[in-house]
Amino acid sequence: MCLTPRLKIIADSIENCKCVADIGSDHAYLPIYLVKHKKVKKAIATDVNIGPANNSKKRIQLHGLDNFIVIRVGFGLNVLEKGEAEILVISGMGGLLIADILKQSLEIAKSAGQLILQPMRDSYLLRKWLVENGFKIIDVEIVKEGNKFYEIMWVKPYDNVNEPQAINYIDDKLLNKKSLVLKDYIDSKIKEYETIIERVKAQNTFNSIKRYKECIIVLDYYKEVKECLWQNAEL
Ligand SMILES: C[S@@+](CC[C@H](N)C(=O)[O-])C[C@H]1O[C@@H](n2cnc3c(N)ncnc32)[C@H](O)[C@@H]1O
Repeated sequence: MCLTPRLKIIADSIENCKCVADIGSDHAYLPIYLVKHKKVKKAIATDVNIGPANNSKKRIQLHGLDNFIVIRVGFGLNVLEKGEAEILVISGMGGLLIADILKQSLEIAKSAGQLILQPMRDSYLLRKWLVENGFKIIDVEIVKEGNKFYEIMWVKPYDNVNEPQAINYIDDKLLNKKSLVLKDYIDSKIKEYETIIERVKAQNTFNSIKRYKECIIVLDYYKEVKECLWQNAEL
């Protein structure tokens, strides 16, 4: 079974794991791949909806992996015991939903050794929530699939509240890598915000003026980062 680049980068970062829980697994591609490649001994594939869970069950049976992957149906981490999963993966959902899932079962979230999170949007707000609620961001990557960019973050529970962790629209760890995909990503963000600004400028309502001002700040941030990266690349 082949994984898309987004799920492959997550799978590649997992080794020698006793139990991984894939929350909102949908098709169960990730747990099947992880077990088949002996990266994990056991996996729990969960989903809030019965339809995807049933499809996953059939796919797991087809691969003869019923003894290694269990399916659970329910909201977020509610279907797990404390300490049951060494690694939690939550991918392909909105950042605010991911934060809500963690918030609703904070003890279970913190009982995992590592969390791998891939928000489809609002990654900045998710990272902000994480550092304000006892997690540390260990690494961040951007992966491109077609013309879409996905941010993946590796996170650990962290109780040192005295250590300040800076949060920016782009994580510092990502900036330090200065990868080509990062430049593409910044360009796409600049385009995205220029388009939004053009749209809200035409509306001239109280909310659109507020949105315009917010977007200008974000656009300036991306432009400044781009300029800075280019300058450094020329050195
Ligand atoms: C777009 S799919 C992502 C599938 C897979 N994780 C991936 O990254 O390709 C999102 C899945 O999450 C499930 N889901 C949404 N909210 C959830 C929640 N609160 N708890 C568990 N699963 C949820 C949906 O039913 C859906 O199957």
